[in-house]
Amino acid sequence: MESEKTQFQVIEGGPLKVSGPFKISGPDGAIISREGPVYLCRCGHSTDKPFCDGSHKRNVFSE
Ligand code: FES
Repeated sequence: MESEKTQFQVIEGGPLKVSGPFKISGPDGAIISREGPVYLCRCGHSTDKPFCDGSHKRNVFSE
């Protein structure tokens, strides 16, 4: 059985999609996510960082 690999996909004008096994920890070291796929904010406008909340649709940014 092939083990699942972690994959990262840059979505043009949007978030970074992460799928496969991974862990995200907050500033205090506590795990805040371990199931994929998740979408990580690249635009800086999300109110739910590090996750994308769709704010990039109202705040266009360049790659
Ligand atoms: S990339 Fe979606 S809110 Fe920032």
